[in-house]
Amino acid sequence: MPGLGKLAKTMTQSANPERSLRVGVIGVGVMGSNHARVFTGLPGIELVAVADPDRRQAEFVARALGCGAVADTDALLALGVDAVTIAAPTHLHHEIALACIARGVHLLVEKPIASSVEEGRSIIDAARRAGVTLMVGHVERFNPAVEAIKEALRNEDILSIAITRVGPFPPRMSNVGVVIDLAVHDIDLIRWFTDSEIVEVQPQLSSAVAEREDIALLQFRTASGVLAHINTNWLTPFKARSVTVATRGKYVMADLITRQVTECFGFQPDGSYSMRHLSVGHAEPLRAELLAFMRSIRTGAPPAVTGEEGVASLEIATHCLSVRPWAAPEAKRPAPRVLAG
Ligand SMILES: NC(=O)c1ccc[n+]([C@@H]2O[C@H](COP(=O)([O-])OP(=O)(O)OC[C@H]3O[C@@H](n4cnc5c(N)ncnc54)[C@H](O)[C@@H]3O)[C@@H](O)[C@H]2O)c1
Repeated sequence: MPGLGKLAKTMTQSANPERSLRVGVIGVGVMGSNHARVFTGLPGIELVAVADPDRRQAEFVARALGCGAVADTDALLALGVDAVTIAAPTHLHHEIALACIARGVHLLVEKPIASSVEEGRSIIDAARRAGVTLMVGHVERFNPAVEAIKEALRNEDILSIAITRVGPFPPRMSNVGVVIDLAVHDIDLIRWFTDSEIVEVQPQLSSAVAEREDIALLQFRTASGVLAHINTNWLTPFKARSVTVATRGKYVMADLITRQVTECFGFQPDGSYSMRHLSVGHAEPLRAELLAFMRSIRTGAPPAVTGEEGVASLEIATHCLSVRPWAAPEAKRPAPRVLAG
């Protein structure tokens, strides 16, 4: 049963489903300026203003897109918006989300939903009480290559998944490490591909040049028995994103950047098999994500990525930072090798 607030919101929308939705973007750095750009190209959407305490950045984006620029969330909400994207730094998501929810505004919160599971849950509770749509920006789900993998896995018995997401150190300083920033994308994909929850976590983390972890090799087991592995770091000089999935009947390989998805199937006793490239769409993932958000607001249907899913992925990422894998006692470890000069 939808709550009364949700029902009232849905009825307001369906009373006039063609009405333009007035939207705003809070935080228009790297990600938020893309949200603002994409919003301006969507039918039935009016980008009212962007909010950012960095006035130069807000005005730069506003001038380019022909919308208003304000300094903070309150000033944006005072303009009267139906929905916002929150793309401010993660540690501010909770406070900004609660302010939007208090004004009955629908929200898409960039990933990760918040900087802690408790904050994420409090956003979910507040959104549910207010009856507003809460979606989390796990944009990789809308990557056409990821959609092609998901389709290739339909009715397959998945055995293992390996994901690599590596690249150079981000130019801006972040107050989270590579697990919360990058691996959370892939934790979400593993949960989505398998339709199952992660029940075991075996992390290996290291900080090579950053204060927080910048290398992570993470292993998981899902409730359905799938083994999964994430290799992520900020130490590779180029960006790479790849996914391989082994099922009983096929082996799927994908490059999420070039969007090439290939499957091997028809394994024969002599070792031969067939191979084919899968058809992959070319939609912009962010556009597909924002269209899904708008659809959910207009119809009252659950969003494509719910707050609960955002928190579930954040919770697993958080476990990766707290689980201490077993380590051999010092005495049992081999002495460091001395290289000959
Ligand atoms: N889905 C993805 O693939 C993806 C990619 C990058 C970032 N993100 C997420 O987007 C969020 C922003 O990341 P980014 O890389 O764009 O960071 P960024 O530093 O480039 O931009 C953040 C912006 O927020 C502004 N800001 C700071 N305090 C604010 C406040 N109180 N109110 C409004 N704006 C405020 C900053 O001035 C800055 O312009 C993070 O949560 C990050 O995890 C998601």
